[in-house]
Amino acid sequence: LESVVSGSPRGTTEEVVRVELGARSYPIYIGAGIIETIGPRLRERGAASRLAVVTNPTVAQLYADRVCRSLEETGFTPVLIEIPDGEEHKNLASLASIYDRLIAAQLDRGATLVALGGGVVGDIGGLAAATFLRGVSLVQVPTTLVAQVDASVGGKTAINHQAGKNLIGAFYQPRMVLADVEVLGSLPHRELVSGLAEVIKYAIILDADFFDFLESALPQALDADPEVLRRIVSVCCRLKAAVVGEDETESGYRAVLNFGHTVGHAIEVLTDYNRYLHGEAVAVGMVFATLLSEARGYCDPATGDRIRRLVERARLPVEVPRDIDAGALASAIGVDKKTRDGAVKFVCVEAIGRSRFERIEGRALAAYLTMWRAQETESAEPRGTE
Ligand SMILES: NC(=O)c1ccc[n+]([C@@H]2O[C@H](COP(=O)([O-])OP(=O)(O)OC[C@H]3O[C@@H](n4cnc5c(N)ncnc54)[C@H](O)[C@@H]3O)[C@@H](O)[C@H]2O)c1
Ligand SMILES: [Zn+2]
Repeated sequence: LESVVSGSPRGTTEEVVRVELGARSYPIYIGAGIIETIGPRLRERGAASRLAVVTNPTVAQLYADRVCRSLEETGFTPVLIEIPDGEEHKNLASLASIYDRLIAAQLDRGATLVALGGGVVGDIGGLAAATFLRGVSLVQVPTTLVAQVDASVGGKTAINHQAGKNLIGAFYQPRMVLADVEVLGSLPHRELVSGLAEVIKYAIILDADFFDFLESALPQALDADPEVLRRIVSVCCRLKAAVVGEDETESGYRAVLNFGHTVGHAIEVLTDYNRYLHGEAVAVGMVFATLLSEARGYCDPATGDRIRRLVERARLPVEVPRDIDAGALASAIGVDKKTRDGAVKFVCVEAIGRSRFERIEGRALAAYLTMWRAQETESAEPRGTE
């Protein structure tokens, strides 16, 4: 794991985080304006001149020209492949349409597939690269905060099935990741904030200094300040790279990254994936996990307060919505693919920057929720009315 600072095209700082996975190691370049370095970087690596850029219409309209110009200027002939925008299109039909275009363009095994977009494009583009001709080179150019700090790092690729999210996929590492923080300036604010939930997650479970930094730099982050975002993206990539380097295929430790996700996923399922963005649901899940850690004495109340405060300051939701009842939450957690015998491996907080696993039954989680709600109703009721 190493970080090198050098000059980037706009004279701002560029950082390199290496994901160390033996023969499958790769660099993540992080900086402002660096999507325009894609051509020279692929040339340096000796990539074949015909390559594919998978994206969606929203991202293509904003950035395809700059990416394609850089590629063409360095002698590449990119084929632009668009899939429709939206999580509902992270499916087999879109994957099949990518295969059709790759075959029509007669790309061979030496080809490179560039995934230019958010996590949806990254996941499906990654799976296309993993499977087309049994695997072609993959380059991730993540354009959302979620994709830069999470989806593009670690090699998980997937599509959804009617029966659930990410049920079909593969572990497939990219050759290189180009995270240009300048492109985050065009993200809808809600998407940026949703990504910040995952950022806060890394700080809570892995890095107390980073949590301090977020407490002071949150306003600039919410303003999409490139310098602050560069620091955020590089710290998160370094933290995730370290976890992935330790446990590439999630046989154990990598599950620490599921902090806030057990309850978060359940909320997404129970609201049909249309009320909350993923990060928003994770924010609720993180606060839930924090309250639970406090209730069980794993962490002190001051720690819990700091976590809740930061999540609230980011204007992320913190409460399980009242129309989800505790029983429904428990059974939704019971069908989560990461459960075994009704108990979940739940990530709890010990202190800022330190977490631990506890096996907790869905029923116990429901009981806490019922208890907290009762306490809240009690404290909200007017007193002394006799
Ligand atoms: N593989 C992993 O490890 C991993 C990790 C986290 C999330 N994911 C997956 O990622 C997906 C969510 O990713 P996401 O949050 O990036 O959503 P997304 O890909 O749907 O992007 C969100 C929206 O922002 C738009 N967009 C992208 N970049 C933009 C830009 N620079 N400016 C303006 N608009 C832009 C997109 O077109 C889309 O409408 C989910 O499918 C999730 O399962 C995967
Ligand atoms: Zn997540």
